[in-house]
Amino acid sequence: MSELDIESLSKEKRTFAPISDPRAKAYVPDMEAYEALYKRADEDPEGFWAERAKELVTWFSPWEKTLEYDMHKPEIKWFAGGKLNVSYNCLDRHLENGRRNKAAIIWQGEPEEDVKVYTYQMLHTEVCRFANVLKAKGVKKGDRVALYLPMIPELAIAMLACARIGAIHSIVFAGFSAVSLQNRIQDSAAKVVVTADAVLRAGRTIPLKPNADEAMKKCPSVDHCIVVNRAGLEVPMQEGRDCWWHECTHADGITDVCEPEPMDAEDILFILYTSGSTGKPKGVVHTTGGYLTYAAHTTQWVFDVTDNDVYWCTADVGWITGHSYIVYGPLCLGATSLMFEGVPSWPGPDRFWQVVEKFKVNIFYTAPTVVRALMREGVDWTRKHDISSLRLLGSVGEPINPEAWMWYHTYIGAGTKPIVDTWWQTETGGILISALPYATTLKPGSATKPLPGVDAAIVRADGSLAGPNEGGHLLIRKPWPGMLRGVYGNPERYKSTYFQRFPGMYESGDGARVDDDGYFWIMGRLDDVINVSGHRMGTAEVESALVSHEAVAEAAVVGMPHAIKGESIYAYVTLKTGIDESEDLRKALRAWVRTEIGPIATPEVIQFTEGLPKTRSGKIMRRVLRKIAAGVYDDFGDTSTLADPGVVQDLIEGKKDLTGN
Ligand code: WTA
Repeated sequence: MSELDIESLSKEKRTFAPISDPRAKAYVPDMEAYEALYKRADEDPEGFWAERAKELVTWFSPWEKTLEYDMHKPEIKWFAGGKLNVSYNCLDRHLENGRRNKAAIIWQGEPEEDVKVYTYQMLHTEVCRFANVLKAKGVKKGDRVALYLPMIPELAIAMLACARIGAIHSIVFAGFSAVSLQNRIQDSAAKVVVTADAVLRAGRTIPLKPNADEAMKKCPSVDHCIVVNRAGLEVPMQEGRDCWWHECTHADGITDVCEPEPMDAEDILFILYTSGSTGKPKGVVHTTGGYLTYAAHTTQWVFDVTDNDVYWCTADVGWITGHSYIVYGPLCLGATSLMFEGVPSWPGPDRFWQVVEKFKVNIFYTAPTVVRALMREGVDWTRKHDISSLRLLGSVGEPINPEAWMWYHTYIGAGTKPIVDTWWQTETGGILISALPYATTLKPGSATKPLPGVDAAIVRADGSLAGPNEGGHLLIRKPWPGMLRGVYGNPERYKSTYFQRFPGMYESGDGARVDDDGYFWIMGRLDDVINVSGHRMGTAEVESALVSHEAVAEAAVVGMPHAIKGESIYAYVTLKTGIDESEDLRKALRAWVRTEIGPIATPEVIQFTEGLPKTRSGKIMRRVLRKIAAGVYDDFGDTSTLADPGVVQDLIEGKKDLTGN
């Protein structure tokens, strides 16, 4: 048995030196500056963060103490006693600083002709109106409001309206089922639900309000439901409870004047539910002052946003990425944020590039799953559009395989644009490990180095520090302003999930290693580890090896019980469009992995498949794949988050065809 928690198999060695770009601001201009900032933040975290908080955020009154914390308890307070309002910071102050008529949100709807632009002034007006609607519905400071909406401007407006009056929003991704919505509303006892008649997706109109109705049947806390008319669908409206957004925002007495509520830095800004590996979803709690400071700080340094940029993060606002990097970070900085309702593949696989060309997008932030899906369709689609406005690319959500990184770099980045591979989590509120775009030498597949103020370490199971290239648990040893402050209504789970196993430190649940140059390589969730004859391997590296083969579009690797080795490797492989499955190809892929990584990583079984079971945020549900690999075809647990549940049956049939059972 190896002493390591997890072994690294990667042989990636390429490096890409930073480039300069006249359009860039390069807030952190080079590695010398980075080292100096890192040292400063390490030696004097309070001084460092206090400076950032004063520079980026407008406070109604100053805080009493920059930081109070005990990571054992845990109890963390940033800027406590300081008063501010997030919507004031994202809107009002820009009306006075020259950005009044600047585009805050450019919204591209799914139909090409659906475009709306909100200047800061226009957004301010809409937010104040909706804040007054919420007040009229009885919503008070500290009350919870559930937002169950597609990617339409009303979602951002409702978030900012909640923030304006001190209500706590809980966004539930519109792809979630009625039951998921119900659980989330119940857990937070939300008073109001904001939803829409329908979602427009890939040319289809998918009713949404019926899900909300179904959920609300079992949610006695809900007094009101406000419905946006997105698709002109006829939906039943319950007298006394439901009203249309366009009607209630223009009802008698609803004005566009609404004073922002002064909030304490540690008052809750929002709850966002995230699934744990077991049990019901956790309501991750983020507070006001630290979260806003951290979102704005990372948006500025990592995405290098300037006043002249069009910035596009393709995530859904229903995920933390959309919260921090579509809405709060960019708007706090007074940037122009593009919000896109559509999908990358419709009407064609060039949709993203067409949007980039249309709005001359400069900064583009997406997920590896998107990159791999577009890579599968071939480069001709990327060449149909002039995407030379791009100057910076980002990646988030899972390890980006070197192969996908190279494709992104070569075909989207013209071989010259920096890629920031940003590692973070719902719980961390913002990016913790990432390149600084015009300073860091890049290595494909590495998130590079922790940002200044982030004390990241890799430790062994016994808590001792891991050596260079030794895989282990990725922990954060000091608090940062954007970190979660709780699991809603469950202090016990807050402590046991994140602070108990390694007392006094934040446990991310991810495995990683640090190479000889101090670069971090994320190996995936530690619950995704496979143990073959005592070698614990992260799934990500085996997947990367498979994806680097010319025939492969995507791969997912899980462990399968094995009488001798303990576990063996089972790989699900999706081939590129136009490539046929064959026994020869299967053999070739095995040989490929053997040479790319080594015999230890050779897949025992390779199952070709048209699709993988992905959640709506693009993460592969390995739990389902593990069951199928083991020949267990029921008891998949909660699969309500799957984007396409039909994939599961296809996989089961494929498995039976392949192995006979
Ligand atoms: C994974 C998304 C490797 C990781 C912001 C983490 C990544 C989980 C990266 C959090 C990255 C996110 N490289 N892995 N750049 N970014 N992850 O809460 O396993 O949806 O723990 O937050 O995604 O997912 P979440």
